[in-house]
Amino acid sequence: MSLELPTDRLLIREWQLDDAEAAQRIYGADEVAHWLTPEWRPVNDTDAMRAVLHAWIEAGPNLVPPAGRWAIVRKEDEELVGGLSLKLLPPFEEDFELTWALRPDVWGQGYATEASQAVIDWAFKQGIEEVFAVARPNNKRAIAVARRLGMEWVGETEKYYDMRLQVFRMRPT
Ligand SMILES: CC(C)(COP(=O)(O)OP(=O)(O)OC[C@H]1O[C@@H](n2cnc3c(N)ncnc32)[C@H](O)[C@@H]1OP(=O)(O)O)[C@@H](O)C(=O)NCCC(=O)NCCS
Repeated sequence: MSLELPTDRLLIREWQLDDAEAAQRIYGADEVAHWLTPEWRPVNDTDAMRAVLHAWIEAGPNLVPPAGRWAIVRKEDEELVGGLSLKLLPPFEEDFELTWALRPDVWGQGYATEASQAVIDWAFKQGIEEVFAVARPNNKRAIAVARRLGMEWVGETEKYYDMRLQVFRMRPT
């Protein structure tokens, strides 16, 4: 599903292969890769990142709407500062999970919260009734984003990704 979503400071848009170099600075950073799903391997160079982006772009049209993976661009200087995705949580693939990754040098400015709020609002307009976020219990920053967004704490579970995770949920108000 093609998306271009502006917020005050950001533009959420589809990934492009040209983003590989900037995306590698996000997904290749140890501070980011450490917290992503267990199957994620740090992307060590631009070619590897381009291959990942290629796979994401190819997969996009086959995802169950409103799932997607998007780039977060700072409007002020057109810097690619992060990525976020809405995807069906394994293993049951019934619940939509919002995930975030920001380049470490832009943490602490509210970009994840601002981008997430826009994507959640948009997703609810597409007709889904819940958005989830999951985070390892010690991923304080991710948990803080979920709370800042006003997500409700649902509990702790091991049903996703075979690891203990805190689960947060948001429903349309
Ligand atoms: C999770 C992650 C995206 C959170 O990034 P973040 O920058 O901490 O979160 P936000 O962008 O919402 O910024 C919040 C911070 O900006 C501050 N802030 C400044 N301006 C703000 C604004 N306009 N609005 C909201 N917060 C603002 C907040 O006070 C908060 O500061 P603090 O961290 O000192 O408490 C980031 O740490 C990351 O990429 N982690 C690795 C990947 C990951 O763990 N993903 C989650 C699992 S999928």
